[in-house]
Amino acid sequence: MSEKILVLPGDGIGPEVTREACRVLEIAAQRAGLKLEMEEALIGGASIDADGTPLADAVVAQARASRAVLLGAVGGPKWDALSVDTRPEKGLLRIRKELGLFANLRPATVFPALAGASTLRPEVVDGIDLLVVRELTGGIYFGEPRGRALVEGRREARNTMVYDEVEIDRITRVAFDSARRRRHHLTHVHKANVLEVSQLWMEVVDEVAKDYDDVELAHQLVDSCAMLLVRDPGRFDVIVTGNLFGDILSDEAAMITGSLGMLPSASLGEGGVGLYEPVHGSAPDIAGQDAANPLAAILSVAMMLEHTFEREDVAAQVRGAVTAVLAEGHRTGDLVLDGEERPTLGCVAMGDAVLRQLEKGA
Ligand code: IPM
Ligand code: MG
Repeated sequence: MSEKILVLPGDGIGPEVTREACRVLEIAAQRAGLKLEMEEALIGGASIDADGTPLADAVVAQARASRAVLLGAVGGPKWDALSVDTRPEKGLLRIRKELGLFANLRPATVFPALAGASTLRPEVVDGIDLLVVRELTGGIYFGEPRGRALVEGRREARNTMVYDEVEIDRITRVAFDSARRRRHHLTHVHKANVLEVSQLWMEVVDEVAKDYDDVELAHQLVDSCAMLLVRDPGRFDVIVTGNLFGDILSDEAAMITGSLGMLPSASLGEGGVGLYEPVHGSAPDIAGQDAANPLAAILSVAMMLEHTFEREDVAAQVRGAVTAVLAEGHRTGDLVLDGEERPTLGCVAMGDAVLRQLEKGA
C-alpha cells in the first residue's frame, strides 16, 4: 500500500527548501520500506495568484486524504496589502484549523558544530535541547468576535483570546507525554497575573499534572520566560503554552540555536494527518537565488518519519546526516557569522551534501 504525501511548497524560498526535503524523503522512505505517492498543490500567495484564494477547498480535501503534509512557507511583499482575511497566511491558518492540528511541536536543538553561530555566548547555548509545544487552533488567532469597526468616527479593532478546558487539557497532555519521553520537566507559560484565560490554563494544567507525577511541572510568566530563554535556556526541557505566546517564544527559542533556518516543526491533531513545516518564513529577500537553508525542511521530514510513520530509526539517520554535514563544515549563508570568512553552499548543494551523507550511512 502506498502512503499519500501532499507537498505544499508555498511562496518565497518554500519551493526551494521543499524540493530538497522531498529528495531526502524519497531516500528515507526507501530505507524505511515505505512506498510514497507524492502530490503537489498550491497554498498561500501562489494559490491567491492562481485560484484567487490562499487555500482552495480541493486542496483541503487532498490534505484530508493524505497521511502527511509537507509545507514550505507562505507570504511575501506582493500580498502584504491584502486584508488579514485574504492574505497568504490565512491559507496556513485554515489548513491547521481544518485538519484539527492543535498541537504544534517546535524543537530547538543546538547542533554542536553551530554553537558558535548563535548570537548568545557558546557556553550559554551549548547542549540546548528544548521543545516548545504550542497550541495551534485556538486562542486569539481564532477567537470571536474579531474585526474592525468605526465607533463614533474612530477606527477600532478587536480580537478575542478564548480557550475552553478541553482545548487546554488535550494540548497539556501532548506536552506531558513529550516530557515523559525527554527529561521529565515541563514549563507552562502564561500571563495569569493579568489574563483570565491564563488563570484557566493554570487550573487545567495543574489538574492534568495529577496524571503525570513523574514529570516536574513549573509555571512561568511569559515575560520572564522570554528573559530566561536568553539568560539560561538550558533550564528548559518542554514548554507548553497558547497560540500567541507560542508563536513568539518559538522564534526566540529558534534564535538561540543560531539560525531560524535550522528549525523544523510538526503539527499534529485529532484527524491523524500530520503537517510538517520549517519554522522559518518565506524569506522573499533571498527567494529564487539558491541561497536558502533547506535543513529545517529536511529536519521536518525527520519529524514526519518519527511522528507519522513511527520510524524513529530512519528519522535518526536523517538527523545524523544533517549533523555530519555541519560537522564537515558545510554552511548555508544564514549559518555564517558576520565577519567570518568561509565558503557557503547553496540550497541545492546543501541538499546534495545531506543526501551524500545519508547514502554513506546506509
Ligand atoms: C508561524 C508563523 C505563522 C503563525 C504565520 C505565518 C501565520 O509565524 O507558524 O509561527 O503566526 O502561526
Ligand atoms: Mg511565527
